[in-house]
Amino acid sequence: MPVLQYGQMGNTFGRLFRVTTFGESHGGGIGVVIDGCPPNIDISDAEIQRELDRRRPGQSKLTTQRKEEDRCEILSGVFEGKTLGTPITILVRNKDARPEDYVEIARKFRPSHADFTYEAKYGIRNWQGGGRASARETIGRVAAGAVAKKILPAFYSEFEIVAYVAQIHEIIAKINRSTVKMRDVEQNAIRCPDAAAAKKMASLIEQIRGEGDSVGGVIECVARGVPPGLGEPVFDKLEADLAKAMLSLPATKGFEIGSGFTATRMRGSEHNDPFEMRGGKIRTATNNSGGVQGGISNGEEIYFRVAFKPTATIAHEQKTVTTSREQTKLAARGRHDPCVLPRAVPIVEAMAAIVLCDHALRQKAIGLRGRWK
Ligand SMILES: Cc1cc2nc3c(=O)[nH]c(=O)nc-3n(C[C@H](O)[C@H](O)[C@H](O)COP(=O)(O)O)c2cc1C
Repeated sequence: MPVLQYGQMGNTFGRLFRVTTFGESHGGGIGVVIDGCPPNIDISDAEIQRELDRRRPGQSKLTTQRKEEDRCEILSGVFEGKTLGTPITILVRNKDARPEDYVEIARKFRPSHADFTYEAKYGIRNWQGGGRASARETIGRVAAGAVAKKILPAFYSEFEIVAYVAQIHEIIAKINRSTVKMRDVEQNAIRCPDAAAAKKMASLIEQIRGEGDSVGGVIECVARGVPPGLGEPVFDKLEADLAKAMLSLPATKGFEIGSGFTATRMRGSEHNDPFEMRGGKIRTATNNSGGVQGGISNGEEIYFRVAFKPTATIAHEQKTVTTSREQTKLAARGRHDPCVLPRAVPIVEAMAAIVLCDHALRQKAIGLRGRWK
């Protein structure tokens, strides 16, 4: 049998800021081991808990009604409110697990979930909830993101990251990307800073839930105060790592940075970002690049969009197949998100912070302090 080295099983992300998540949705608990965190960074349980609370189920009637407290326990790597530079382990125990809700999917593959592919790969799967494919896995990412969000401002004083719902199904929000703040995002349960659009989105999700169906949408994320120089040639380009981070999230279907797919309908003369001197710094007059050129940050806002599909598990009866290969039907039971986007906002932010933190440490490691500040 071929031997795989630690880290090759796809449970670890990052080079210097290394994040390994563990756990299944209905097992004992879910968590993360973070290796490579610098020492002496202030971090409290409350700061990690605040981020986990934004991800938690049951926050509003628009999300799954699974009632999880998601209380975090820091098991290692932090002493008297400061990181030690040693591995940080954070654990959240599963409490409100109802495996009986999933008995039917022990034998029937949910269309467009991970049941069939996990069984095809491993020949065994924990059918309770989504097992390892469940969005509960992202608890570890959000906890690691909370740590990354503390490291980045220690390096770059103006660092700020904000994600928000930009679209649900066909409802598109109007948002000023350059001024939006986290408090604008947190003003409603949808996490969409356009209050009028958020209202329409909320009633659409309610209607869709009532019909036993689901919807998807788009989350946009913007990182400000990132200096030029973050990102590595060639396979670890900043945008490539952001894309991998985002597409590693459950239910994601697309990623675009800057102008993204609209660039395909523009000319070079429209799309290029002209350089100019502003406030004594080299800046660009426009930002179709999304703050990344040649895979390296250019000091402008880094912004990208992530497409999320409609939740796979729905109450509608659908055609499927059993583990013994018989054609059958499935109308799923259990508690599910009719739309995953409101809860995915802090997860997108967390993964972006993890990528930026990893690249910040890599930039520090080459010893240059960023000539073009
Ligand atoms: C915040 C969040 C909540 C989710 N909740 C559910 C859910 O309640 N039911 C479900 O079927 N899928 C849910 N998902 C998506 C599944 O985990 C995902 O679709 C599944 O693992 C298959 O992977 P794929 O969609 O990436 O191919 C959620 C995803 C996120 C990001």
